[in-house]
Amino acid sequence: RIGQPADAEELRKHPAIREAARMLREGKLVAFPTETVYGLGADARSEEAVSRIFAAKGRPGDNPLIVHIGHLCQLRDLVAELPPKGELLVRRFWPGPLTLVLPHRGTVVRKVTAGLETVGVRMPSHPVALALLQESGVPVAAPSANRSGRPSPTEADHVWEDLGEAIDGLLDAGPTGVGLESTVVDVTGSVPLLLRPGGVTLEELREAVGEVRVDPGLEGDDHPPRSPGMKYRHYAPEGEMWLVEGSGETLVRRIRELAEDARRAGRRVGILTTEENLSRYRADRVVALGRRSDPESVARNLYRALREMDRAGVDYILAETFPAEGIFRSVMNRLHKAAGGRVIRAEGP
Ligand code: TXA
Ligand code: MG
Repeated sequence: RIGQPADAEELRKHPAIREAARMLREGKLVAFPTETVYGLGADARSEEAVSRIFAAKGRPGDNPLIVHIGHLCQLRDLVAELPPKGELLVRRFWPGPLTLVLPHRGTVVRKVTAGLETVGVRMPSHPVALALLQESGVPVAAPSANRSGRPSPTEADHVWEDLGEAIDGLLDAGPTGVGLESTVVDVTGSVPLLLRPGGVTLEELREAVGEVRVDPGLEGDDHPPRSPGMKYRHYAPEGEMWLVEGSGETLVRRIRELAEDARRAGRRVGILTTEENLSRYRADRVVALGRRSDPESVARNLYRALREMDRAGVDYILAETFPAEGIFRSVMNRLHKAAGGRVIRAEGP
């Protein structure tokens, strides 16, 4: 357990970081905090260590892992080329919640890239993650440290809950900051392509590099998503979850009706709302994600709230929705996945 993180340079001397770095070099599995979510790390060049990641998570083998680096110079060993727009994005957003998909050089094991020609790389900004990556000196393959399909872990307890027995070490530095995974952008083509919305917003990307396309597979089911991980049901609580579309008074009224109907039908009902509307609902469990007026707070609390629904044992979950811009775009992407696409539209007045 590491107290409030100082800077990465200082943390490299911390005995827990030293120990964890040694374990990574020896091919062990170490879970660690990043600014987005906790990751489950292993040496990306070790066939055996990488295999254990897939086994521990129950992750399908066709879903590639992100490689994490602590120094920019490590990029040269991993990728064949950094196109100019990729370089712009690196300068603007690294270290930070942005993963770049780039042509690889075959230096990480095939399982990491799931046989693709490309590799996803990111440099996280969390001082504990940076210190660990720098101290270990190895490129670290790290998916989110949850069991496949469950909400990603934003606290060390979540990692323990999902993977406790399957891992060798866990660095606990308290709750993560962003609360959603990194944004994944493919920069191998002429126009950068957004594959997964996350901690860096589409608006921020466009401000930095101009045109950015959005993978059509993200928005509808007509195209398969280009990022293999985006095709799975994900982040899902155990109860049947529905998103309720609408705004203002109409939204609140519709959720109240739906909750009442479900309660009368004998279901245990959970509601995901915001501080602004918290007092307006009654159900078996009502959780505020954050403040609607503070989108970052909603992102930060989303996965914890989804886990809370499981703990409360609710079997029917109603969730408020948000206008899909800024970080709310990423929040809505995760909510849609968690709900397996189930949407109810609140009719206008
Ligand atoms: O914030 C994050 O990115 C966290 C922390 C731990 O860094 N990691 C994370 O990893 O979310 P994971 O494995 O849960 O999600 C990785 C996503 C998946 O959707 C995967 O399909 C995609 O990135 N991905 C990885 N490599 C790719 C590639 N070469 N091409 C396209 N998509 C790729
Ligand atoms: Mg994940």
